[in-house]
Amino acid sequence: MSARCCASWATRRAGPGIVDRIRRLDEPARDARMETRPARARGPAPELRETMPVLSVIGTQWGDEGKGKILDLIAERADVVVRYQGGANAGHTVVVGQEKFVFHLLPSGILHPGKRNVIANGVVLDAGQLLEEIDGFEKRGIAIRGRLFVSAAAHLVFPYHKALDRASEGVKGGTKIGTTGRGIGPAYADKIARTGLRVGDLYDKRFRDRLEANVAEKNRMLQGMYGAEPLVFEKILDEYVGYAERLKPFVCDTFHLLREALDAGEYLFIEGAQGILLDVDFGTYPFVTSSNSSALGIAAGTGIPPNRIGEVIGVAKAYTTRVGEGPFPTELPPAEADALRKKGEEFGATTGRPCCCGWFDGVATRFAMEVNGVAALALTKLDTLSGYDALQVCTGYEIDGRTTDRFPCGDVPLDRVRPVYERLAGWREPLTGLRRFDDLPEAARDYIDFIEDFVRVRATIVSVGPARDQTIRR
Ligand code: IMP
Repeated sequence: MSARCCASWATRRAGPGIVDRIRRLDEPARDARMETRPARARGPAPELRETMPVLSVIGTQWGDEGKGKILDLIAERADVVVRYQGGANAGHTVVVGQEKFVFHLLPSGILHPGKRNVIANGVVLDAGQLLEEIDGFEKRGIAIRGRLFVSAAAHLVFPYHKALDRASEGVKGGTKIGTTGRGIGPAYADKIARTGLRVGDLYDKRFRDRLEANVAEKNRMLQGMYGAEPLVFEKILDEYVGYAERLKPFVCDTFHLLREALDAGEYLFIEGAQGILLDVDFGTYPFVTSSNSSALGIAAGTGIPPNRIGEVIGVAKAYTTRVGEGPFPTELPPAEADALRKKGEEFGATTGRPCCCGWFDGVATRFAMEVNGVAALALTKLDTLSGYDALQVCTGYEIDGRTTDRFPCGDVPLDRVRPVYERLAGWREPLTGLRRFDDLPEAARDYIDFIEDFVRVRATIVSVGPARDQTIRR
């Protein structure tokens, strides 16, 4: 099917509904109706609440798509911002004026005064990292107390998870995943094996014994399987007793908090971390993270019933990047990848590792739209593509001599596919100063049109720089 065939499809699919509603989200909060409502009742206008009480922002590639900026942009109208999966492997950067904020665990609503922020049960919590982040933000004048709520049911990440993560990666050689080393996989493995310890367990009298048993078991693994140094139980216990004390003001039952917020007609924003291609079920397994980083994880990761989860905004970079190991069909040859990496400053926010860079993969991104049920697309970093004579968009995968536009979902290893490209005209002009779609060079407009036609979702937000105002809304 030619991409152009779906031209009207994109508009029909996104329809005026979501486009309109996102435009309304962007209306200044000084709208008289909002001003006269008490602070507790602020948020979207009543008609928005009826239609989309829960709005999610999800990455549609391999992470690092710029979700932090998009969420920050629209968080102004949220009552509650929620993280539902992943852990300190995530790294969102938000630029406000001259200041740059990097988030690993705190939801990005924390930058907006008055918003409540929830770290829900689906997250694996590195308590030390969270407290460090809280200290860092508080030092910069951002109040956290009374605005952050951490689920007692979220699983804790312990030093043995990080040690196992690094040790197992160290022995894998060519099959390593390239994890962030933050203990994510081992922490989720313990959750599923039912040996994990949750935030609420910090306050339970059995905590000591359960931790001791876990440390003993993990030490057997570290020493026996990997020849690594054992960890000292008393040291870990001491550390976590200290964390328990400091975390206490934030810990609560977030299921009921969210449920009550929903019942009160409040407006919830769900913040995805990583991207759908790293989803443990629908991503490029085994080169994925250990949670459902797609929208599919929202219900389990928060307790919000599936029928109350509203629309999903998908975030995609105007090209593709990937950090860590694993197949990447549209990856550019080293010299070209290098140039794009430098232009886009493509280094993982959590580990600082250089990202692999490539052309926009329409096949993978369309698949992500389908899995997430994306209603609107936020296309980020379009400005980075200025200066190319021509651009390529992957519109098909060649597998054993046959071309398909379907992303293989477990049946064909992704490293067997060869990308089929459509060549589009590039543009030379810088875009960072532009604020209206019509002011974009024709080639840039065509590029956006082509992508939205191909992925069948309308790009209602186009980002042309890291700052809040470097944004084009359509
Ligand atoms: P883990 O989540 O640390 O276990 O890493 C598994 C894979 O997901 C690796 O390829 C990581 O590079 C990748 N990954 C994890 N978190 C992020 C992220 O926030 N952005 C991009 N890649 C990530």
